[in-house]
Amino acid sequence: MTTVLAIDQGTSGTKAVVVDGDGGVLGIAELPVRPTYLPGGGVEQNPRELLDSVLDAGREAVARAGARIDAVTLANQGETVLAWDPVTGDPLSPAIVWQDRRSEGICAELDGFRDRIADTTGLVLDPYFSAPKMAWLRRNVTGAGVVTTSDSWLVHHLTGEFVTDVSTASRSLVTRLGDVEWDAELLELFQLGEERLPRIVSCDEVVGGTSAFGGHVPVAGLVVDQQAALLAENCLRAGEAKCTFGTGAFLLANTGTSATRSTAGLAASVAWRVRGETSYCFDGQVYTAASAVRWLQDLGFVQSAADLDAVAATDAEGVLCVPALAGLAAPWWRPDAKAAFTGMTLSTGPRHLVLAVLQGIAAQVAEVGELVAADLGQPLTMLRVDGGLTRSRVLMQAVADLMQIRIDVYPSQHATPLGAVALARASLDPSLSLEDAVDAWEPSTTYEPRWSADQAADFRSRWGEAVAAAVTREG
Ligand code: G3P
Repeated sequence: MTTVLAIDQGTSGTKAVVVDGDGGVLGIAELPVRPTYLPGGGVEQNPRELLDSVLDAGREAVARAGARIDAVTLANQGETVLAWDPVTGDPLSPAIVWQDRRSEGICAELDGFRDRIADTTGLVLDPYFSAPKMAWLRRNVTGAGVVTTSDSWLVHHLTGEFVTDVSTASRSLVTRLGDVEWDAELLELFQLGEERLPRIVSCDEVVGGTSAFGGHVPVAGLVVDQQAALLAENCLRAGEAKCTFGTGAFLLANTGTSATRSTAGLAASVAWRVRGETSYCFDGQVYTAASAVRWLQDLGFVQSAADLDAVAATDAEGVLCVPALAGLAAPWWRPDAKAAFTGMTLSTGPRHLVLAVLQGIAAQVAEVGELVAADLGQPLTMLRVDGGLTRSRVLMQAVADLMQIRIDVYPSQHATPLGAVALARASLDPSLSLEDAVDAWEPSTTYEPRWSADQAADFRSRWGEAVAAAVTREG
């Protein structure tokens, strides 16, 4: 029986969950980490706050569980980077969050290499991924120390090792999709050729040990948070897809064990590598989901995410929202896009705007779902969903209506930590198959489309026009 402390270090907070060998949650602790939003598209976090939140939430969860843990695992934000001193472990820069758009200029400089980069990495040249932000840090903040994704820094503090896992490395724009090794030519392109880079490890590797949470235990099962949720939701076969509604909303589809590239403008990256076999996924991104809700909160339109359904109008009365508060990802890839509301009149009130934002998020998810279907060559027949915003029935119904498929809500709020737990189990017990490491689940709620196909198509075409207008304005 393996009891695992899983730490999900996310954009808006750190969650630590202690899970026993049967999948029972023994203790949970959560701490917020609020990013700073800067003019010019900067989004930063304080690295010390990230590390403290990992240590404090982890210790609190273990104390609440009142159990001895056998391992620690960490899921990370994927593309958030910082510079740090490899000797002292001290941060040398703020953490530059995946939503940060300030490396747009660096991407523009490399525009001529867009195809070459996509060909090698499976990714689209965009500030979202880690290398442009690493390059931006080097040019604008510090030339000292190492510059890595946040997982390497956190794991270094826990274990003293200098590693990153294959799924995180595959989100960098400087690794090859096939073998997931650092690519010297791409590193040169981003002027990162001289960097000391972490060793890339498999998701079922024990990378070291830590005494940070009690007795000395192995640290194992490193993975990107989205990929962890894909695993927890049992999307183990090609074509199976999930969408996590966190700070952003991320729809990932398992594409099997060959390094398939998207032809529809999605990102292709590693889902996980276990027992030496690499599984891949496509993903499409809605950069602002809970971020957009937090923005509604800051404007005073809702008190909290729990209010959304009570506040949202039942009909937006023609108001549409393109919630591009941090640019647009697949298929537009327009980091410069800005959010827009259209169709407002004197009778428009906060209730309509709240519904329009929820429908805008759902429409973006539907758009990504269509790309995934085009890439897979078959329609999605259902979508598994998780994350805090799945509590909004209005949002989930909008997703079902606009995608015209069934939506199965994952029964736990801890998909990401549970996926990391599965990888930690696989790391500690080499005889365990990945299928056996993941707990079976039944949806807590299911949403069927209530709109007709015509209604959905009409909405999506009007919403598509609003996006086209928003993107043209920025061009
Ligand atoms: O790519 C960024 C994403 O993985 C962050 O996830 O849960 O912090 O919104 P989350």
